[in-house]
Amino acid sequence: MTMAPDYTEKIPNNVSLREDRRLQRALESWQPDFLDWWESMGPTLPTRDVYLRTAINVGREGWAHFAHVPMRDYRWGIFLAERDPARMIGFGEHKGEPAWQKVPGEYRADLQRLIVIQGDTEPASVEQQRNLGASAPSLYDLRNLFQVNVEEGRHLWAMVYLLHAYFGREGREEAEELLHRNSGSADSPRILGAFNEETPDWLSFYMFTYFTDRDGKYQLGTLKESAFDPLSRTCEFMLKEEAHHMMVGTTGVDRVVERTAQVMVENDTDDVTALGVIPLPVIQKYLNFHYSVSLDLFGGDTSTNVANYYTAGLKGRWNEPRRTDDHRLTDDGMLVDALIEGQIAQTEVAALTGLNTDLRREYIADCQSGVNRWNKILASAGLPHRLKLPHVAFNRKVGAFAPIEVSPDGEILSAAEWAARKGQWLPTDVDKTHVLSLMQPVYERGKIAAWIAPPRNGINGKPFDYDYVHLS
Ligand SMILES: [Fe+2]
Ligand SMILES: [Fe+2]
Repeated sequence: MTMAPDYTEKIPNNVSLREDRRLQRALESWQPDFLDWWESMGPTLPTRDVYLRTAINVGREGWAHFAHVPMRDYRWGIFLAERDPARMIGFGEHKGEPAWQKVPGEYRADLQRLIVIQGDTEPASVEQQRNLGASAPSLYDLRNLFQVNVEEGRHLWAMVYLLHAYFGREGREEAEELLHRNSGSADSPRILGAFNEETPDWLSFYMFTYFTDRDGKYQLGTLKESAFDPLSRTCEFMLKEEAHHMMVGTTGVDRVVERTAQVMVENDTDDVTALGVIPLPVIQKYLNFHYSVSLDLFGGDTSTNVANYYTAGLKGRWNEPRRTDDHRLTDDGMLVDALIEGQIAQTEVAALTGLNTDLRREYIADCQSGVNRWNKILASAGLPHRLKLPHVAFNRKVGAFAPIEVSPDGEILSAAEWAARKGQWLPTDVDKTHVLSLMQPVYERGKIAAWIAPPRNGINGKPFDYDYVHLS
């Protein structure tokens, strides 16, 4: 059922765009606006070309092609995973019915909203990361940054395709708005909080790709289950690209921890600030920040909207097919976090209204695996220090714990105690200034900044000292 991707077209695609002139024209008129946005809000470092992966097919084998390409000429395309004509809806009140190829009128507004919220995060991260090229620790890292950037651009295309193809004039207007909102803008910010935060340095970038991109992975995982088949197929393919973004975050933090541990051991001290690396307590503070703002992205602990999305079949659970319950959940309950008489507690709710909590818990377990991995690096360096995820109530702005202040260990604090102590747990101006001071670019082939270890492997079988990026 898959169409061969057509690269002779202005917009590479496997959705037979050529056969739908109206849609093709609409997308071709959005394309110059996208390129203007890329020029004005995308990466600021001038480059001649970058060794990039371009999606060229959706099959299991050889879905991507690697070559040096000028970034502006990147072939942002529209690729949906292969269609399974026998696909059935896997959950909710329509469970067992054929998946939808068109948007049912009654769910139009909700589906459009879900697509816009997902779509808004994609260009937001490009905007957040636009200045990082100026301080890249190596050409390898620079290339990875740009790879993530062009793929987030492609993810925007993926959502804009759905808006144009299935949501008429309103969809086209929303597609324009996706280019007009900007990360951190005072008058028209991005929709979700974490996507208006700055990513001013590379430690933030690795933490962002570990924790915040990982939220994206989980959101895409729930949309991949959607009864609306084009959305499901789009998200399935996006998840393939997301794996690389996760790798950049995971191994990026690995390499920062590894280098810090090395310098601690060599100099037999914890106090490495003056030794040109990032002290472990500062790494912990960045972790605390990015983890807590990413937890907020999952929304309230209970939500009737999400219950309705599930029942309608719009948005499933992580790993829905592997769950062993009835996939309707109408009679089930679950425990969710709650604030009861000012104390951190749990309360039982209908399973359907607790689905944000269900997804957040899957995410938390996944985040813990990264922390375990970083602690193994510390252990094998012979150090007793360990990193950890802060308490789920720490630094929350959304959900049951938003009204209280809590230490990373879960101790409830007065506003005054919080104000006095939060600098121990979240990056201070001094910490940020130190990290920024280390961010001197290294653009020489095979060289790397002193605050980070080199990667174990290069990209696509190339060595670390490959000429991944040609600057202009
Ligand atoms: Fe993305
Ligand atoms: Fe991503």
